[in-house]
Amino acid sequence: MATKRVLSGIRATGRLHLGNYLGAVKGMLELQADPQYETLYMVADLHAITTPYEVEELRQNRREVIIDYLAAGLDPKQSIIFQQADIPHAELSFYLAAVMTIARMQHLPTFKEKVKQYPEAATMALLNYPILMAADILIYKADLVPVGIDQEPHLEVAREVARKMNDQYGLDFPEPKRFATAGEYVPSLTGEGKMSKTVENSYIALTDDLETIQRRLAGAPTDGGQGELVPTTGGVANLLKMVELFQGEKRRQEYEAEYVGAGVRYGDLKKELAAAIYEELAPIQEKRRQLEQDRAYVEQVIAEGAEKARAIAEPILAEVKFKMGLA
Ligand code: TRP
Repeated sequence: MATKRVLSGIRATGRLHLGNYLGAVKGMLELQADPQYETLYMVADLHAITTPYEVEELRQNRREVIIDYLAAGLDPKQSIIFQQADIPHAELSFYLAAVMTIARMQHLPTFKEKVKQYPEAATMALLNYPILMAADILIYKADLVPVGIDQEPHLEVAREVARKMNDQYGLDFPEPKRFATAGEYVPSLTGEGKMSKTVENSYIALTDDLETIQRRLAGAPTDGGQGELVPTTGGVANLLKMVELFQGEKRRQEYEAEYVGAGVRYGDLKKELAAAIYEELAPIQEKRRQLEQDRAYVEQVIAEGAEKARAIAEPILAEVKFKMGLA
């Protein structure tokens, strides 16, 4: 019987890429397969409105992420798969906002970054982003959250909110922990920072064919292929990380030995890496093509997911309202 609850989500800002797949989806799949856990996986459509967006694009993206989930192996028989806006997460986030100060939220690095990126659009919704994420987790009293390491500051906020709600209102929220996967940090192909949908040439999409993967890898910066020390940052380090993630630790070590020895031929490395990546993506792409032909099935998954998620969330939301004097 399931003893622990798992909640995770991906923002509906576009189609998934390798960073989402390795950092979040792989962890979701691992926990889905473990009968010890009850797993809830959503598309974070409410979070998508915290930065500028197009209405029709969002309407489409919230569907596309669900299809990507199903194609990657999330199974509605084992997991509750749903859209965030179908459940009253936004309502809980307002109650939770009552225990957090503006100063605390303004100091989060994620908030500061986004304000820099969109100086004209530093909205209240953006400031509230981590509190909404806390609501996503707490509305199910979830224990475990499979997400990338960049989300740790947000989980810290969620734990803080849980403690405060428990102390001030006598609730019993667990303090949620992050579930880490091997690919929790997937580097950018540009050699700087992490793989991101919003950074041009930084990512490989789940839908990329072999040729596109080869082209994207071809653009990744390298060096002379030889030296006394294997680089730990920059383009070469990032490529070696990808080798490790898709071809294993051993292959990486072989390249490292070549680097300090006879030299690495990046043309060959990239070709082999592209093939390994494509091999993992091809079955996902095949499944996606099938799902695209069966929209009725996707709609049914979404409707059933909403119903199951609501059945867990509603009593917890009612309990919060009651303890806060609102019912
Ligand atoms: N902030 C997460 C990200 O950018 C997405 C997200 C929203 C999320 N709500 C969540 C992840 C709840 C885990 C749990 O990746």
